[in-house]
Amino acid sequence: ECRRAKAYSSSANLGSGFDILSMAHTAFYDIVEIEAEYGKELNITVEANSNIPTEIEKNSASYPVKKILEDIGISASVKIKVIKGVPEGLGLGSSGASAAAAVAAINDLFNLNLSKNDLVKYAMYGEAAVTGSPHPDNVAASIYGGVVSVISTNPVKVVEIPINYIFDILLFVPINIKIREKTKKAREMLPKMVSINDYVLNSRSISSLILGFVKGERDLIRLGLNDEIVEKARLPLFPYYPKIKNLALKYNAIGACVSGAGPSILVLTDKMTDENKIIEEGVKTCKEFNVECKVIKAKL
Ligand code: HSE
Repeated sequence: ECRRAKAYSSSANLGSGFDILSMAHTAFYDIVEIEAEYGKELNITVEANSNIPTEIEKNSASYPVKKILEDIGISASVKIKVIKGVPEGLGLGSSGASAAAAVAAINDLFNLNLSKNDLVKYAMYGEAAVTGSPHPDNVAASIYGGVVSVISTNPVKVVEIPINYIFDILLFVPINIKIREKTKKAREMLPKMVSINDYVLNSRSISSLILGFVKGERDLIRLGLNDEIVEKARLPLFPYYPKIKNLALKYNAIGACVSGAGPSILVLTDKMTDENKIIEEGVKTCKEFNVECKVIKAKL
């Protein structure tokens, strides 16, 4: 028997919501196909259309599958095929999308009836396999869709944020930057301590962003898409970001933030925004930093 599942790319953090908030988008998607035959023992193989690692515990699709089948006690010969569409290492939730598609496919194939929160729990192993940290935000968005808030990881609890403001998405995706183990490195750049002042500013931002989405208030979303801690600490990974953000605000985007751990930048736009100007000048600005950017338009 064979099942396939698809999972979309995502932008985690959304400014101040580090490891909490994430938004799935139509920019890219991964497909995972799983074929299984019951057997005497558990045997998993994985192949991919890109050069992601194919060791079972280093691949974000196979490791969650292994965990699920071990926990449930299913012995089978399982073949996993990962068809990557989400580019890797660019802050677009690539490993998370493979993990999300893999857990959805295995859930379906064996009729496991796992809840979405359980799927998130297992998909987090995929993030641990690839980035060394089981962060939940990208997988939560790819599994639930839309914008989510991860309220707790043990046990996993994800809440979908009602979005009452219509916006479009622009992603500045650098195509000539390749940082090995980027998320791992980006996490090592984070401060161990934060000042009470930054803590308060970030709490205000996250509160404003969520309230803005729920109440459908543009100004609150705009105020909310800010961060004083994580984006700042990681700025060397995306030095063009402050200029792109300024441009986005100048041409009346709703706001801009770093997509996940970067180096892609997420811009939220609406009919008041001069998107063409942002794209034109944004691409030029990136070039000043020797960064070649592709701009992808996407929807929630
Ligand atoms: N919240 C994670 C981070 C997302 O910023 O490290 C990584 O994709």
